[in-house]
Amino acid sequence: MEQGDADIVGQLRAAGLIDNGDVVLEPLTGGVSCDVWKVETPTGPIVVKRPLAQLRVAAEWLAPVERGTSEVRWLRRARGVDARLAPEVLAELPTGHAFAMRFLPGCPVWKDELIAGRVDADFAAAVGRGIAAVHSATADNDADRAAFPNDAMFAALRVDPFILYVADHDAELAPTLRAIAADLSARKIALVHGDVSPKNILVSADGPVFLDAECAVYGDPAFDLAFCTTHLLLKAVWLDDARLGAAAAALVDAYRAGIDWEDSSDLLLRAGKLTAALLLARVEGKSPAPYLTDAEHKTVVREQARALILAPSPLDALVTQWKRTLS
Ligand SMILES: Nc1ncnc2c1ncn2[C@@H]1O[C@H](COP(=O)(O)OP(=O)(O)O)[C@@H](O)[C@H]1O
Ligand SMILES: [Mg+2]
Repeated sequence: MEQGDADIVGQLRAAGLIDNGDVVLEPLTGGVSCDVWKVETPTGPIVVKRPLAQLRVAAEWLAPVERGTSEVRWLRRARGVDARLAPEVLAELPTGHAFAMRFLPGCPVWKDELIAGRVDADFAAAVGRGIAAVHSATADNDADRAAFPNDAMFAALRVDPFILYVADHDAELAPTLRAIAADLSARKIALVHGDVSPKNILVSADGPVFLDAECAVYGDPAFDLAFCTTHLLLKAVWLDDARLGAAAAALVDAYRAGIDWEDSSDLLLRAGKLTAALLLARVEGKSPAPYLTDAEHKTVVREQARALILAPSPLDALVTQWKRTLS
């Protein structure tokens, strides 16, 4: 056991989450910014998550405090909106901004379900309803605005790598992409999760459970809708599966039904622009979709995304018109 891991065990004991018996920290497949472990405890399995002091990717300067704190705050706030939407946070550990949450047994990650061909439009709709519920509850709320002042982090982890990086490498699209980035950074409307990807959503019997809110910020809710829709549209091309396009449409429809804080057509147009930019980022950006390796798949995404950046479409229309192949 590494020194840091022994530390974690000591902190879990101090927090009263485990007793003095043997403890196994079982690594969970994770991303590039945290250590994530499953730990058996006398009251059932828990997950311990600790932000790395340095990310294994860009934005190395971001302190773990910012990411760990925003994640715990988002999880608690989302549960306050609807307890089914996020795992229960059990303890914040005193060092390293680690925290413990309840492990949800028997809940696959949505991405794995989609790849296995289990594409459920009703579940996609529940994802749309869930995101909209958090946005609606936090819209125009001064306490939430004050609790998530994470603009620098959102800029470094989202706006720069996904939108401005592409702008810097594409003179034709640069003015439009810079305008999209400036608009995204300026809007302070509701609590944004920041990483609503199928790999961060568990499929539970009670509907979607959202994880991994390290990028949470008070910002433009259109971003969450665009980010998740982008993943479904990319997978529709990769897997050439019309049901993924239908799932994206169901997600957008359900989200739209939950918009009660602003004009829904304004939001859907912003989400359409952001989705176009994010689609292009996933073939040209710093963080390309790892599964889009086929040249033809990339062309399908690139051509549609470029056209949509230059001639934007509201997200509902974009999703309906999205093509999975060149023909
Ligand atoms: N509370 C939980 N219950 C069940 N599985 C979880 C839980 N939290 C995380 N996981 C699993 O661990 C993986 C990584 O967790 P995540 O919070 O997404 O961290 P990372 O930043 O490493 O992506 C998830 O994809 C999921 O499979
Ligand atoms: Mg994750």
